[in-house]
Amino acid sequence: SVRACLTGVGGYLPKRVVTNEELASRIETSDDWITSRTGIHQRHIADETETAASMAASAAREALAYAGADAAEVDAIIVATATPDEAFPSVAVRVQAAIGANRAFGFDLSAACSGFIYALATANAFILAGQARKILVIGSEVYSRILDWTDRTTCVLFGDGAGAVLLEAEDLKGSGRGILSTHLHADGRLGDILYVTGPGSKAGAVLKMQGRDVFRHAVAKLSEAVDEALEAHHLVASDIQWLVPHQANLRIIDGMARKLSLPEGRVVVTVDRHANTSAASIPLALNEAMRDGRISKGDLVLMEGLGGGLTWGSALVRI
Ligand code: ACO
Repeated sequence: SVRACLTGVGGYLPKRVVTNEELASRIETSDDWITSRTGIHQRHIADETETAASMAASAAREALAYAGADAAEVDAIIVATATPDEAFPSVAVRVQAAIGANRAFGFDLSAACSGFIYALATANAFILAGQARKILVIGSEVYSRILDWTDRTTCVLFGDGAGAVLLEAEDLKGSGRGILSTHLHADGRLGDILYVTGPGSKAGAVLKMQGRDVFRHAVAKLSEAVDEALEAHHLVASDIQWLVPHQANLRIIDGMARKLSLPEGRVVVTVDRHANTSAASIPLALNEAMRDGRISKGDLVLMEGLGGGLTWGSALVRI
């Protein structure tokens, strides 16, 4: 039997950076309001040539290079996104063609900001079932195209980008590395507090959010999710070396760090520079912390996130 090991990471951020000050010159907001409520200082915003597919392909190439793997060896590509520029072909299949992963099957997955956790869990299940040995798992988002740029309650919170990981089947008798468990949840009764109308709607895609309600549910549900992940392995909080949370709001992230009694230096934070990149935020954070040497082989990492649906979940991974 096998385990799914995380062997590569990659990321892509658009060049253009939009600061809080720049937003404040266009809408009724301030750097102080945004920073104190969210921890966000700036975000990257795609230009007209950058799409979910182009950013995903760049992140995927980096993840393959990190792992020393070839695109031709990839069995599957799963892309978590809410912002494909086409309803079909899927972003995953566009990536397959762009990187030359000609053997791979691929599909997109919709779980909003929990998309990367959902995609990781799905890829893990394919590997454990013996249906694939190498899978690219990607989160890629251009929320700048679904924001109402006149709505200050939402447009200041999000940014664009893509992150990718390569998962590879490894013999269970090996190092003890790999995905130890994933936990997924959803509550569709809360669907209306955060949603984006789809390409099939008459309204055109636009994001709507009741921020305060989302905040309240995020703290409660992620807190339960952290307990669930620890209990499943009879772990205590201090066994976790790194928290790599979805990057929606620094106050939510700090709340989870306190729950795990993790010192600040053991939580990967990118929300200050990336804002909320939805399904891309966790792999982008992981990419940063693995490349700069903070997270290293053997570390036990807890990833968690919550998003529209509501959907939420966690993944416990030994790197
Ligand atoms: N600049 C200045 N003032 C603003 C802004 C802004 N950008 N946005 C709202 N305000 C005003 C409001 O109009 C309100 O004014 P009022 O009291 O006169 O009506 C006041 O600020 C307070 O607004 P609240 O919405 O109550 O502010 P709150 O403290 O709740 O912070 C925030 C808002 C930051 C959105 C917070 O609720 C939050 O972070 N929620 C969670 C959001 C989240 O995590 N979403 C993503 C998760 S899922 C996913 O990632 C897709």
